[in-house]
Amino acid sequence: MNLVLMGPPGAGKGTQAKVISNKFNIPHISTGDMLREAVAAGTDLGKKVAHILEEGLLVPDELMFEIVRERLQKGDALKGFILDGYPRTVAQAEKLDEILQELGKSLDAVVLITSTEEEVVRRISSRRVCPSCGRVYNLLTLKPAQDNLCDDCGIELIQRKDDLPHTVRERYRIYTEKTAPVLEYYRRTGILKTIDGSRTLEEVTKDLFESLENM
Ligand code: AP5
Repeated sequence: MNLVLMGPPGAGKGTQAKVISNKFNIPHISTGDMLREAVAAGTDLGKKVAHILEEGLLVPDELMFEIVRERLQKGDALKGFILDGYPRTVAQAEKLDEILQELGKSLDAVVLITSTEEEVVRRISSRRVCPSCGRVYNLLTLKPAQDNLCDDCGIELIQRKDDLPHTVRERYRIYTEKTAPVLEYYRRTGILKTIDGSRTLEEVTKDLFESLENM
């Protein structure tokens, strides 16, 4: 299964991608995670993009093309993948088609998880992540067993630098301006499915699975 998950920041893409990845045993490829790992490791790429991420802006398309091309060529992605965070512009969507064509593949579905600006600001304000394994929690809806500690690593959870309310609103604005047009691109191809992401995690997962089974 070759799948793209789309939706505004905080809609639940990463959370649902993990569940699908476990169920279907295909990799969850998050461009946001890859960029944050590069920043944390202090690589050349990380140095170039650190301030862009912090401000909630988009990394230039040309940089993203190379990152995604290289990742999709890796062995584990050849049997299928869940792409989360890419494409974010129409140019990125066109490039993805080109990369997949080179690999003799195509997308099976693009799933849009919807959510409102107020809902995502609320969710993201209470999101916490493990700085070691990247596991995502929520202080309201997905709490760790012990206060502010990762269940897997026992390490103190942190808030992402781009999770401050004014940055989330900026990310939402950019999503509406640059990424929403990508939905039209996929709507025309007939592979776009829409899930109401404003419900509970379990309800969204159930809908998502039903939608994938009917592909
Ligand atoms: P990225 O990491 O992709 O961020 P994003 O798209 O803004 O998405 P988030 O990770 O914030 O949210 P999510 O939808 O995964 O929600 P989650 O599941 O965590 O990108 C970060 C940055 O990298 C970008 O701003 C940009 O600078 C750069 N970048 C990345 N890709 C790029 C590209 N292609 N081109 C250019 N730049 C790029 O859920 C959020 C919270 O809500 C969690 O706490 C979760 O537990 C909770 N939650 C989830 N679902 C529910 C639910 N149904 N009910 C209640 N709580 C829920």
